[in-house]
Amino acid sequence: MAESSQRRCVLICQNRSCLRSGAEAVLQEFRSIATPNVLISPSDCLGQCGSGPTVRVMPDDSWYCRIKPDDVETIATEHLQGDRPVARLLHPRFHPHPDAFKPS
Ligand code: FES
Repeated sequence: MAESSQRRCVLICQNRSCLRSGAEAVLQEFRSIATPNVLISPSDCLGQCGSGPTVRVMPDDSWYCRIKPDDVETIATEHLQGDRPVARLLHPRFHPHPDAFKPS
């Protein structure tokens, strides 16, 4: 698989609601997977507290919701390396037609 040359930042909310849903383990999982050109960063509340853990990928402006540690490898492989957002995990509020979403 070709590696993406795009630099990205992955924000993983570490605020109260997301922490209660397991966001710390999600952050640790992202940090355990070394992905070239990707900065992994904890963040304050991303405003989607009811559907956490919330993960936002920039500059694509892709939003993921209810992410579990087991989802992280899929996001890393398909999205961060393969440039294909994982439609089934995208937040429907931001991506009402996830199969059609392409990162900018
Ligand atoms: S607490 Fe995570 S989005 Fe608000």
